[in-house]
Amino acid sequence: MSLKDKKIIVGISGGIAAYKTLSLIRLLVSEGAQVRVICTQNALQFVTPLTIETLSQNDLYYDTFGPRQMSTEHVSYADWGDLFIVAPATANIIGKMAHGIADDALSTTLLAFRKQILIAPAMNVNMFENPVVQDNLSLLLNQGMTILDPEYGFLACGTVGKGRMLEPEILLEAIRNSLNSIMELEGKNVLVTAGATVESIDPVRFMSNHSSGKMGISIANVFAVKGAKVTLLLGKSHIHPSNSNITVIKTLSAEEMYKEALRLWKKTDIAILAAAVADYRPVKQSIQKIKKQADTMTLELERTPDILAALGEAKSRKQTLIGFALETDNETANARKKLNEKNADMIVLNSLKDKGAGFDTSTNKVSFITKNKSENFPLKQKEEVARDIVEWVIKRL
Ligand code: PMT
Repeated sequence: MSLKDKKIIVGISGGIAAYKTLSLIRLLVSEGAQVRVICTQNALQFVTPLTIETLSQNDLYYDTFGPRQMSTEHVSYADWGDLFIVAPATANIIGKMAHGIADDALSTTLLAFRKQILIAPAMNVNMFENPVVQDNLSLLLNQGMTILDPEYGFLACGTVGKGRMLEPEILLEAIRNSLNSIMELEGKNVLVTAGATVESIDPVRFMSNHSSGKMGISIANVFAVKGAKVTLLLGKSHIHPSNSNITVIKTLSAEEMYKEALRLWKKTDIAILAAAVADYRPVKQSIQKIKKQADTMTLELERTPDILAALGEAKSRKQTLIGFALETDNETANARKKLNEKNADMIVLNSLKDKGAGFDTSTNKVSFITKNKSENFPLKQKEEVARDIVEWVIKRL
């Protein structure tokens, strides 16, 4: 794919690998891309404004209140760019990005940027492996950003380990792939359900489950990054996606999720139902708090509407419908039953028997159950599982 006229923002933070970013800027410009560079004050200890401006053929932005800058420069940069790469990304800028801190030109623009962001970390191996840094990277992954994992090798601090920023040619390829994939699902409307539904018993208590929403939100992120317009019907979850291609509709109960899903289904090309939806809800919801009385109490429950079955029934040949199956026994047989009875095109099966799979983990182990096949995958990060699902959809399309 040609990079001609693509608008790339290169963010440089203060690490020695900044010298390699100069080659990346040169490569991007020689491919015809328009490049604007934003850097931190610390980055200027390693590379000079003159070098950056000469190579990028554009002014450098590094001082939020500098003489050349308007105070809203960060917003106009964010609107301008097609893609943002932060290289090198220090532990400091990663931490700021993960926690919404915006105190300089680079972090402010990153917070205002709502399209594809690539992060190329570079730091000492102990810093990189520090759980705080790893947690921050996970938060950014959850937001749909791409982490370009550093290489193992000789580090500037004299040690050997994982922490070397990827070479400029590899970063260029990652930018190309990322822009390429942006096109793949442009114009497609995708519906994703995620999280746990909540069924009220009284104003104080509810019935719910352990779903964190991570699996479904990862799927929404991957679709959004590939250019699809995603509507996310989100139950209970503390994760908030931020991609501008994702519209979040909070749907707490199974009934609310069902109504929204049916309303949107006609205009949807692809639906992935990853939410853990209650199968039963209390027949009556007490307006007042139920008081303690006898030693036992019985709660009468009734079936909730089955969203997957309803979409399957109304499905046209142009639409793709994927459901999940969370099982504890007879996994494949149960998943295949769901595939047939609910007229789905694929069921993503996860079993609570597999360690690291299912609820509230960062990983999952799934099988794709289709009409004639079942394909087993190893334990992977949920973001990777999401990518596998989206790849399956792209192949089918
Ligand atoms: O959110 P995480 O913590 O990341 O966990 C991910 C997950 C375990 C929730 C996810 O991977 C998963 O398995 N989601 C489906 C859970 C579930 O409800 O499975 P099920 O076998 O009961 O339902 C089968 C399918 O029917 C699912 O697509 C479900 O969304 C759908 N369903 C269920 C009941 C209902 N009333 N309507 C539905 O549409």
